[in-house]
Amino acid sequence: MSLHQVSRRFGALKALDDLSFDIMSGEILGIAGPNGAGKTTLLNVCTGALTPSAGSITFEGRAVAGLPAHRYCGLGIARTFQIPQIFSSMSVADNVATGALFGPARHSGAAAVKAKVSEVLAITGLAGERDLPASRADLLTRKRIMLAAALATEPKLIFLDEPLSGLNAEEVDIFVGLFHRLHALLGLTLVVVEHKVRALASLSDRILILNAGSSLCLDRPEAVLRDQRVIDIYLGARNFA
Ligand SMILES: Nc1ncnc2c1ncn2[C@@H]1O[C@H](COP(=O)(O)OP(=O)(O)OP(=O)(O)O)[C@@H](O)[C@H]1O
Ligand SMILES: [Mg+2]
Repeated sequence: MSLHQVSRRFGALKALDDLSFDIMSGEILGIAGPNGAGKTTLLNVCTGALTPSAGSITFEGRAVAGLPAHRYCGLGIARTFQIPQIFSSMSVADNVATGALFGPARHSGAAAVKAKVSEVLAITGLAGERDLPASRADLLTRKRIMLAAALATEPKLIFLDEPLSGLNAEEVDIFVGLFHRLHALLGLTLVVVEHKVRALASLSDRILILNAGSSLCLDRPEAVLRDQRVIDIYLGARNFA
């Protein structure tokens, strides 16, 4: 995906300000930056939830900005949310089945949906909880369900908004391991917004630091963590979780 001079305004506020960068196919791109820097807004414009006020976004050579969100899903672009969004009244497996019905593959027929659901439950470590009512799931499981439903759409590119927030150190390690596995097994391109900078650095090929809607730097994790501007504006104020 390529962004060219993308801006997004909310009234007088420029939440994204003239952003241009490429998401390389097959990479894990981390995104971090202060609260209100525009990270979620960026995910929203990259996944069709919001239209940019200016600029262009292309995916596999096709202009996508302005398409409805379901078209993004059909092109192989999926996302998860900062606060887990799942169907509480449904089982874990039925939540994942909703994903299997959309996306490029658009599984039709009960057997195809069931096979996809079983495959995704196995990859995400949910096989033992397939019949659990989602309302009884703890935070780690709710995050797994949301990720599994997104994976069931068979995305090529997936955007994750703070997937590690609220997890303890052990759970963070489990999820980071899961992302590495998804990347290796499925060849997915991953874009991960995260405040847990140490985990993000261990996961990412490159990190983009957003500040006030602009790109402060985009580089390999070691270089970003050493960058004095990043330390001054972002890392210095955090306890480097
Ligand atoms: N729908 C909206 N209407 C008005 N302002 C908005 C809207 N969405 C976001 N904003 C504003 O845009 C700016 C960027 O918000 P955004 O949610 O993208 O930040 P963020 O980097 O994801 O922050 P956080 O780390 O707290 O999740 C903020 O000033 C926010 O208040
Ligand atoms: Mg956010």
